[in-house]
Amino acid sequence: MNAAPVPRDIHAELKGVTRIYPAVPGAGAKMPVQALGAVDLDLVRGEFFAVVGPSGCGKSTFLEVLAGLQKPTAGSVSFEGKPVSGQVPEGIGVVFQEDASFPWLTVWDNVAFGLRRSGVAAPEVRRRVEDAIAFMGLKDFARAYPSQLSGGMRQRVCIARTLVLQPRLILLDEPFGALDAQTRLLMGDEVLRLWRRTGSTVLLITHALDEAAMLADRVGAMSARPGRFIEIIATGWPRERDSTIVGEAAFGEITGRLWERLRGESLKALGHSGVSATAAE
Ligand SMILES: Nc1ncnc2c1ncn2[C@@H]1O[C@H](COP(=O)(O)OP(=O)(O)O)[C@@H](O)[C@H]1O
Ligand SMILES: [Mg+2]
Repeated sequence: MNAAPVPRDIHAELKGVTRIYPAVPGAGAKMPVQALGAVDLDLVRGEFFAVVGPSGCGKSTFLEVLAGLQKPTAGSVSFEGKPVSGQVPEGIGVVFQEDASFPWLTVWDNVAFGLRRSGVAAPEVRRRVEDAIAFMGLKDFARAYPSQLSGGMRQRVCIARTLVLQPRLILLDEPFGALDAQTRLLMGDEVLRLWRRTGSTVLLITHALDEAAMLADRVGAMSARPGRFIEIIATGWPRERDSTIVGEAAFGEITGRLWERLRGESLKALGHSGVSATAAE
């Protein structure tokens, strides 16, 4: 499927990355848990990369290690040629799975929060917040509080909050997990729009194979824990695309291939090891 190798502009790189959570005596965790790896991955500047894998396989751990929120047990992570360790580097923005908006702040103040903290001048804050709010379709709700919004809109607030920081690499951890299927499809279009406008590199973690197949340039399928990439599929979609591609034959082929790779891994994650897992190899 892949043509001859072309020089690629590597934006972020993981080499031999593992993450083992230590045993916590007295807290139930008697044994260390290897959550990840070893993982090797090059993210190409400007690409949209999706990660799918069974629940508990280490996807969030992977994202947190890449973001600098957790240290790898072994291996190395770099972003724009510099090692990542200990904190989220300038230039990386994270959108978390749970609704992380501040309930006591209006939409406007939620979106402005990070910029104000980083000491950006007030007129610049105003300009960037207004732009992000308009871009995410929240103009009429700028003075509303999160509790007055739907789940989809709250998630847009969280995306706007990351967007104002102008990240060059955007990491999203199952941002649509709690939304209904139709809203998820539309939010997928929002993320595509965001990706195209910002020119950022986007890494999206999702448990939904259709979402990954529809949105990404490449989809990495992770094994059951400890998570490793068992296959990386290039979708071949044009940059201009939207959720209508779910009607294309290639879309069915990609989701079918992903499910074929992940079925056995998902069974392992459910505790059905042995026959069913090997049958899918
Ligand atoms: N802070 C932690 N301490 C100990 N174990 C953890 C911690 N966070 C996650 N784990 C374990 O690591 C594995 C992977 O978790 P996670 O990365 O959240 O998976 P996913 O996002 O794919 O559902 C799970 O078995 C989980 O229980
Ligand atoms: Mg997770």
